[in-house]
Amino acid sequence: MDARSIILRLREKETLTSEEIRWFASCLADGTVTDAQAGAFAMATCLNGLGEAGRVALTQAMRDSGDVMAWDLPGPVVDKHSTGGVGDCVSLILAPALAACGAYVPMISGRGLGHTGGTLDKLEAIPGVNTEVSEEKFRQIVGALGCAIVSATGDMAPADKRLYAIRDVTSTVESIDLITASILSKKLAAGLETLVLDVKCGSGAFMDNPEDAAALARALVDTAKGAGCPTLALVTDMNSPLAPAAGNALEVRECLRVLEGRSEGVLLQLTAALGGALLLAAGLATDEAKGRSMIRAAITSGQAREIFAKMIAALGGPEDVRETCLPEAPVVLEVCAREAGVITKMDARALGEVVVHLGGGRLYGGQKLDMAVGLSDLGRVGDTVAKGAPLAMVHAADEAAAERAAEAVQAAIILGATVEADPLVLETLQ
Ligand code: URA
Repeated sequence: MDARSIILRLREKETLTSEEIRWFASCLADGTVTDAQAGAFAMATCLNGLGEAGRVALTQAMRDSGDVMAWDLPGPVVDKHSTGGVGDCVSLILAPALAACGAYVPMISGRGLGHTGGTLDKLEAIPGVNTEVSEEKFRQIVGALGCAIVSATGDMAPADKRLYAIRDVTSTVESIDLITASILSKKLAAGLETLVLDVKCGSGAFMDNPEDAAALARALVDTAKGAGCPTLALVTDMNSPLAPAAGNALEVRECLRVLEGRSEGVLLQLTAALGGALLLAAGLATDEAKGRSMIRAAITSGQAREIFAKMIAALGGPEDVRETCLPEAPVVLEVCAREAGVITKMDARALGEVVVHLGGGRLYGGQKLDMAVGLSDLGRVGDTVAKGAPLAMVHAADEAAAERAAEAVQAAIILGATVEADPLVLETLQ
């Protein structure tokens, strides 16, 4: 087999065999296909698709490109993964909250992808944190604290690690096949017993309409269950950034606010919704409402905050993480509403791109991020804004970047008369 003929067949809309897909995945892992070939494979998959059997084959091949973990722990081994959004920092709150509820959460996360932020980049905004740990250390932290959020170790799903970084900078993210294989290869390699997926839908998601989001959710749930992992998916709104901030350190700050009981917004609501569904599915809650209140109690009691702090210290960060540990941008610019009105539309993808262009995401492979930049004080669709009131604060490295970002923010937030805000959870699929 050779990469050129596989890419050609995919380009010509022919159906690849499972053997060809397995071969390509193993070559991604061992480096024998080049970045150019991987990029071409990703683009041809985005354009023409692999078909259902191909998607399953790619998922399994990427999972098997490295080690598959097994656990022997005194509680259920669970996880959640999002398909990617703007201001989506649920994982940083949910993992320790689940651990406080008696679950074990070996969370293998990713870096920023396209216009969306990545959990690993956010964690590494905390000085000293290193998410690239050995399998031994990963096991030790999960066993001791109940959760660890890390990068796939060198030996886990290496095919995804490589393809993910290439997709990030080649505009090849929006594919049901590639997203399914990417998410599930990591999750299945982590040896989970139950998984909840947060499938984002809207202007800041990779799937911007409910039909495509439901199709992605269906593909994810069916593929995961087919591989033996009980899974459910919540399709959730991404027409507004989830947290009122987007950017690595700024999102960590929002998470600390939630974990310290200082914020009650939709970030907390969605954390409780995903956690409640997962606790029920894992047998730790008798119904979803009970599960949601268990998550909220784990936060209000301070237990989740304590576990989060211990996890940060175990990953090399400060002993007692707090807002003051986080880097701050030298320029902070207020973006004011030019007229009064209701936010009728937000181009959340454009807001995510603002963060990328400020230096908070990658425009090319290996780019070093500016952890301090981004947007804060963001509203949501449905919020009323007075003339001259802030639409957002831009955090930038210099004045010129701040001015450019401010213009882009003005264009991305549309004010009007009235709007019906979308529900936070659109649909649940089992
Ligand atoms: N998260 C992942 O891990 N992979 C994707 O492709 C999208 C979101």
